[in-house]
Amino acid sequence: MSSKNIVLGICGGIAVYKALDIVSRLKKKDINVNVIMTKSATEFVTPLSFQSLSQNMVISDMFEEPRAWEIQHISLAKKADLMLIVPATANIIGKVANGIADDMLSTTIMATTAPVVFAPAMNTNMYRNPIVQDNIQKLQRFGYKFILPSSGRLACGDVGEGKLPDTEYISNVALSMLYDKKDLIGKKVLVTAGPTVSYIDPVRYITNKSSGKMGYAIAEEARDRGAEVTLISGPSSLEKPYGVKIIDVDTNEDMYNKVLEYYNDSDIVIKSAAVADYKVKNYSEKKIKKADGDLNITFTRDNDILKVLGDKKKNQILIGFAAESNDLIENAKSKIYKKNLNYIIANDITLKDTGFSSDDNLVTIISNTGEVYNLDKMSKRNIARKMFDLLEEKR
Ligand code: CTP
Repeated sequence: MSSKNIVLGICGGIAVYKALDIVSRLKKKDINVNVIMTKSATEFVTPLSFQSLSQNMVISDMFEEPRAWEIQHISLAKKADLMLIVPATANIIGKVANGIADDMLSTTIMATTAPVVFAPAMNTNMYRNPIVQDNIQKLQRFGYKFILPSSGRLACGDVGEGKLPDTEYISNVALSMLYDKKDLIGKKVLVTAGPTVSYIDPVRYITNKSSGKMGYAIAEEARDRGAEVTLISGPSSLEKPYGVKIIDVDTNEDMYNKVLEYYNDSDIVIKSAAVADYKVKNYSEKKIKKADGDLNITFTRDNDILKVLGDKKKNQILIGFAAESNDLIENAKSKIYKKNLNYIIANDITLKDTGFSSDDNLVTIISNTGEVYNLDKMSKRNIARKMFDLLEEKR
């Protein structure tokens, strides 16, 4: 599935530099970003900065090369799943509110049928000016959306309304608006992610290479489709997704207890965590001192959390993962039956550039009725999307 497209309109204001962070945040979420800058925006930050971050050519003046601007403003307008204008100046708001289309950005806004979101940022008095307020209300009546500015100390030294809200907040609003699919409204989705750890002594532990990326992507996809999401996460350096209930755990036992606490109340449970099957048998309360000769550590079996969930399953849709280095489909299929799953997502861990820690993965989804879906190599977020699309199709 191709990723979603956001056309980001950049106007001339001191907050332009903050829009760079928005591009970077959207790109990290696998969104294709096309940037249009007004001429005055380019006085603040060069198009090259936006071009480097978006990895797309920036359109900054419709009369410059390439001269295909007549086509471009239409093609970008058509391509957009969402237009986001940051910072939206009094000028662009005034132009659109009055039907003026005299540059690449205003013509694209006029030509698009995608939702348009303005994030205004300007001097307080300018923002409060009744003409600006009237234009905003007029645009809102026509269905244009606004992320209203916050209050604070402005670049000009004044204190008051007119400050661009956090870039994280703006990006999140844009991301959730991209989701027309709300098939999980009213559903409770439980996701586990990341590794578990087993302690050897107060300062040492063993763990595995799981980054948590797959589980976090699943949690975000479920959230954007309207689900109430609980994410039980082993140690991970990933940014915590907004709008998701996060429960941090570290050992197999912690994860086991938390998962069981939420299990009965969940509709869909996805166990993407790389749970350790063994734990250290004799935890040393004191730090182990070095001594001559070898050090032997004995491991003992720990909970197979997914197996317990399979045994206790009522109406939940239960999805597991299978990381295999050989006989992928066969091994994955046997896990479906052993653990009483509805689906398993299998991947070959011997492949380069996929799997652990990477942004992409190459997986096969197998159902308990024997259907096998081989997905192309794609981002973990797109795998999550495909997986929920499949659940929706089968419901
Ligand atoms: N799993 C679990 N508890 C464990 C081990 C695995 O809940 N102790 C879950 C994982 O979250 C995953 C699925 O079981 O969804 C399969 O994990 P995997 O490590 O591939 O399989 P194992 O059952 O551990 O089998 P093996 O190590 O023999 O391949």
